[in-house]
Amino acid sequence: MAAESFAAALNEQIANEFAAHQQYIGAAVYYDSETLPRLAGFFYRQAIEERNHAMMMVQYLLDTNEEVRIPDIEAKQTRFDDAVAPVRMALEQEERVGEEINALFKLARDNGEYRAEQFMQWFVKEQVEEVALMQDLLNVVERSADNLLLVEDYIAREQPGEGTDATAPPAAGGAL
Ligand SMILES: [Fe+2]
Ligand SMILES: [Fe+2]
Repeated sequence: MAAESFAAALNEQIANEFAAHQQYIGAAVYYDSETLPRLAGFFYRQAIEERNHAMMMVQYLLDTNEEVRIPDIEAKQTRFDDAVAPVRMALEQEERVGEEINALFKLARDNGEYRAEQFMQWFVKEQVEEVALMQDLLNVVERSADNLLLVEDYIAREQPGEGTDATAPPAAGGAL
């Protein structure tokens, strides 16, 4: 069996990143409807990060003369049982994406595609940060489930997930 092409696998990951974008908007909308604006803002920002990840992958495919496929949009969850559930879901999502990124890195290495392996390195590092970010937020939300205004204060004070990364790959059309 021929090895799967890295470009085909990366196109699938573009769909996963856009799906993460949509799901984080779903979480943000839920928090906004519960009048928890800092949690909403956190997830709106994370959604943009996921969109940027997808667009970095689009730019990579453009730069390497590969076909780019833009995926369909599926409906995402905007209702949750409680305020902890979206963060738990987000942590599971980031852990899953981490495995997807590792698989892409392995595919690039197994195929001897050095530029692809180099491109994926940033995402390996990024997923370590994203999983840690969601784990931290889950700890805070679980501890403060009876008083979510403490979570709002935490986000306002600590600004988790904010800040720029100069080492990030270029995104098609420019990062938002
Ligand atoms: Fe991502
Ligand atoms: Fe992420």
